[in-house]
Amino acid sequence: MLSGDSSHVVVGVSGGIAAYKAVNVVRLLKKTGLDVWVVPTANALRMVGAATWEAVSGHPVYTDPFDGAEDVAHVLLGSKAKAFLLVPATANVIGKLANGIADDMLSTTVLSATCPIMVAPAMHHQMWTNPAVKDNISRLKKRGIHFIGPVSGELTSGDSGIGRLAEPEEIVDSFLSLLNSLDDYSLRGKHVVVTAGGTREPLDPVRFLGNYSSGRQGVEIARAAYLAGAEVTLVDVNLEVPAPAGVNLVKAHTALELQEVLNNLFQDLDILVMTAAVADYRPAIVADSKLKKSQNHLSQIELIENPDILAGLGKLPRENKILVGFAAETAGGQLGIEYARKKILEKQTDILVYNQVGHGRGFGEVTNHVCILDSDGSIMVESSGSKQDLAKLIISNIACFKK
Ligand code: PMT
Repeated sequence: MLSGDSSHVVVGVSGGIAAYKAVNVVRLLKKTGLDVWVVPTANALRMVGAATWEAVSGHPVYTDPFDGAEDVAHVLLGSKAKAFLLVPATANVIGKLANGIADDMLSTTVLSATCPIMVAPAMHHQMWTNPAVKDNISRLKKRGIHFIGPVSGELTSGDSGIGRLAEPEEIVDSFLSLLNSLDDYSLRGKHVVVTAGGTREPLDPVRFLGNYSSGRQGVEIARAAYLAGAEVTLVDVNLEVPAPAGVNLVKAHTALELQEVLNNLFQDLDILVMTAAVADYRPAIVADSKLKKSQNHLSQIELIENPDILAGLGKLPRENKILVGFAAETAGGQLGIEYARKKILEKQTDILVYNQVGHGRGFGEVTNHVCILDSDGSIMVESSGSKQDLAKLIISNIACFKK
């Protein structure tokens, strides 16, 4: 029944008036050479009939889990898909997806899918702003589901507001970017510089001011970028974990050394991911010999401010370079996000990854929880997991990123 090749994608259509626009989405996806399978709900078929979906996709459509039961069609369709697009996604289908409800062909297929899912919602603006719908959307975003739209504009009811389906071309572009980011070589031809670890600001030959960064998150980002086909330079800032194979290594110990390394690399990089934890201050004087407790030199240490390296680079002309910063905040929730948004403005980043740190979070751990924000401060995606999995998520969002 199914080709099972890497170009197989599924388009789920739910019963909103915008279903007719999904015909164009399927047509445009087909034109790119994708093998598109359409799963309309029974209500979607009241808007656009099965014959249209079959003609435009070139495949039979199933709306009932008992259709093609001998092949367990919903599992086959979902599990073989490289990516899944729900267009239009009604409040009902979003609610089912958020709550794991599987009571028809579309909801069973999407639950069987292990691939990335993109949702293009369309509904009346009062439904879109309903707290129940907002909750469902935020739960789906936390699970790494991608969203495109809705946009503001005229609605079928005659009034206007947010809730209108994004334009088919825009949906197709975003979906293709998502697919592209899954391609093993989505960063081919790009030079990615990743900084990882924590700066150490010397006090004397045996002591320093430092932080708990192990470098693990940055090392995993470097690995994911390398696996995505990029040429990678990893700036090793006192790494406590091994660097991945295949990357160029440059060392920096202090904030000033890191600044010098990055100033030298900046001209030739396409993407900078600033994962290193950089000290904001350093001791004003570095002693040549070990400071003596008896001489009271250690009870007061005069500090001077380090440059904000990322903010400095953010001010330079950057053409098509993508600057990715991190925000490490002990604050969680909305306050943490607000602090992160402030950093986007201060450092002029294109993407900023916020993670809550301290008290067993972030620094030194194997797992992390990240919230990826764009330059407007909007949340692109939020997710928890191993630093390795989150690195892939960060890299796939960078690969999809368009200025
Ligand atoms: O290394 P791990 O143990 O795996 O831990 C990972 C991590 C928690 C260190 C990492 O995920 C992380 O959050 N890194 C950023 C740490 C940090 O310095 O955050 P910040 O919020 O203080 O700084 C914001 C951004 O500005 C960062 O991208 C930082 O690299 C940069 N910065 C900060 C200060 C400074 N003087 N110059 C800078 O460029």
